[in-house]
Amino acid sequence: MYFYAFLILALIFFIIDWYFYRAVKIYTIRKSEKFKKTIKYTYWGFSALSIAFLFYASYFYLAKEEPPKFARIYIFGFLFIQFISKLLGSLWIMVHDASTFFEYILKQIKKQDKEKLTADELNNSGKSQNKISRKEFLKKAAVITAFIPFSSLMYGVLRTAFNFKVKKKNVPLRNLPDTLKGLKIVQISDIHTGSFISDEPLKEVVKMVNELNADLVFFTGDLVNEIAEEALPFVDVLKGIKAKYGVYSILGNHDYGDYYYAADDVEGKKHNRRLITEIHQKLGWRLLLNEHEVININNHQLAVVGVENWGAAHRFPKYGDLDKALHNLDAEIPTILLSHDPSHWDIMVKKSYPQIDLTLSGHTHGMQFGIEIPGFKWSPAKYLYKQWAGLYSHEHQHIYVNRGIGFIGYPGRVGISPEITLLELT
Ligand SMILES: [Fe+2]
Ligand SMILES: [Fe+2]
Repeated sequence: MYFYAFLILALIFFIIDWYFYRAVKIYTIRKSEKFKKTIKYTYWGFSALSIAFLFYASYFYLAKEEPPKFARIYIFGFLFIQFISKLLGSLWIMVHDASTFFEYILKQIKKQDKEKLTADELNNSGKSQNKISRKEFLKKAAVITAFIPFSSLMYGVLRTAFNFKVKKKNVPLRNLPDTLKGLKIVQISDIHTGSFISDEPLKEVVKMVNELNADLVFFTGDLVNEIAEEALPFVDVLKGIKAKYGVYSILGNHDYGDYYYAADDVEGKKHNRRLITEIHQKLGWRLLLNEHEVININNHQLAVVGVENWGAAHRFPKYGDLDKALHNLDAEIPTILLSHDPSHWDIMVKKSYPQIDLTLSGHTHGMQFGIEIPGFKWSPAKYLYKQWAGLYSHEHQHIYVNRGIGFIGYPGRVGISPEITLLELT
């Protein structure tokens, strides 16, 4: 089945390549034969390599193996980038083809009306010259249009993906005792270790987190993409994260093995659960699974509650159980909830759990694509999640949504940098 899927994919790639090449060719019209040949062979050489890679990948999937990590992340990523770019550019060629088609129809109608102007006369007229330049323009626009997403998506892979930014925010909590004011909380989220081919970027993350001298560090889920094993090569690096009162963690929708093991593979999922728990022990991160812990800081108490994944969308698991997590917890203690998916806050927490003062989430990644300039932020993520990046408040309750450290799918970020959050309670 995989083989046929790749065959269809390769065919779609070829069709898009052929379609887009018509626009590329326009740039060679008045150039030398040598230039024409160079462009032609380079273009189709690249196309052949891409299609050959798809067949190479199909071999692995056929043998029920995964292609090497670099190929899976970066070569597929590159194919995705060039495919999307050519597809967007091709929209202009579609406009070109549609206008040619309508002109042909009009010409036929005119013929029927026994217009005196012959086809030859039409071709030689001044209007025809205009048409040619308009058509040339449309094809040239196709290449320019394709270049914009191609260059920004490539820049996102090469420069933004690991350009970690510290975002600082003060969060005013209701009834916060003076001794807890100024408490420094560092939040990281969505590491997705399976998307890292080297531990160097994560060493940088650990260094940046430790430089913030946090009182508490919270990790809000999605340590891996599919299976717990992905995190093993990074345990030694990540266990370097230190905080005065400890590192607390929860699971995200990717941490359950649900995207790898079949729905009825109970043993596979049990193994994943065991391993991800063991990994947390090795990391020295306290994994909160529908439970809470009360931390004593300068003779005052702060409650940290952690729930399992709870996402409003049908496709996401609803393992989170707030009633269980809050059981026997004094509602007067300032309370911070760790919940991976921000829809949990929107639908459950702010309506039914007023004792939770601050919720920390991740999951959206800010869709790894958007615009953020002072005073304005936009991402397609906002159409899926009301709270998708940064701080939001409802009466006395707050949620902070972290944009994530790693990535999944597209191996980069455009406009939305990977984030380490520093929150100061006030
Ligand atoms: Fe994630
Ligand atoms: Fe997630």
